[in-house]
Amino acid sequence: MTNNSTHQPSQPPSWHVDLPTNLCFRLANHIASLQRQKEQEGKRLVLGLATGSSPLPLYRALISLVEKGMLSFQNITTFNLDEYIGLSDTRHSYETFMWDNLFSHVDIEASHIHLVPRVTTLKEAHQAAADYEEAIANSGGIDLQILGIGRNGHIGFNEPGAPADSQTRVVQLDPVTRKDASEAFGGLDHVPTHAISMGIQTILRAREIHLLAWGSAKATAVHESIYGPVGSDVPASFLQTHADTSFHLDSSAATGIESMTQNAVKVA
Ligand code: GLP
Repeated sequence: MTNNSTHQPSQPPSWHVDLPTNLCFRLANHIASLQRQKEQEGKRLVLGLATGSSPLPLYRALISLVEKGMLSFQNITTFNLDEYIGLSDTRHSYETFMWDNLFSHVDIEASHIHLVPRVTTLKEAHQAAADYEEAIANSGGIDLQILGIGRNGHIGFNEPGAPADSQTRVVQLDPVTRKDASEAFGGLDHVPTHAISMGIQTILRAREIHLLAWGSAKATAVHESIYGPVGSDVPASFLQTHADTSFHLDSSAATGIESMTQNAVKVA
């Protein structure tokens, strides 16, 4: 059940509607400017990164900036959101995804990459989750967090029911999430049942948050996240309690909110 009494929205998150390439080009430039600012301050930029198809145009835009000499990952530290537990090989791991789609193409040092460890037993997973939360805190915390969103409103692998005060932990995957992953895994039986995920509180501690959503399958979840009640039924709705969250949407993902203009920055 949703408990809305203790989680009041500060304001609806801002949302931007345009083509994914345009939105991601602007977001990549924003990340590059934060990176330069941190460099001048002698600090590292800590990025929280997501997997799935949604961040792919952003990763292509970041790679393009690196190729043009407009961005360096040398003073960037990264933390990924989540990882499956019990994968039989690395093919479907988020580690492989991140190396294929970003890390191999930019000048990041491997020691500055933090991926949720791939573990096989729940016992190992509980320890790995606690260690991961500590590593995020030790880095000084996440400056900018990238998120996708599940059809059921999940962020990371914070499925419906995820508590507001959750930290990095072992989670059981929702049937909707497993079904959505089944094609990639070659059948539902091959999709893991558990994962390690940053928690809602871990995500909300990031200084700024950018959620990317494309396609009509995300429209309901996007609408409920921005304008619905805040609570565990739709985990992304907790983003309403964060002071600096932006949703980046294509016109299909924005279908449910397009009549609502309050607080929106409409580009297309
Ligand atoms: C997985 C990931 C999420 C991601 C979601 C949506 O469940 N754990 O972090 O947001 O998929 O993926 P996609 O962007 O491919 O729609």
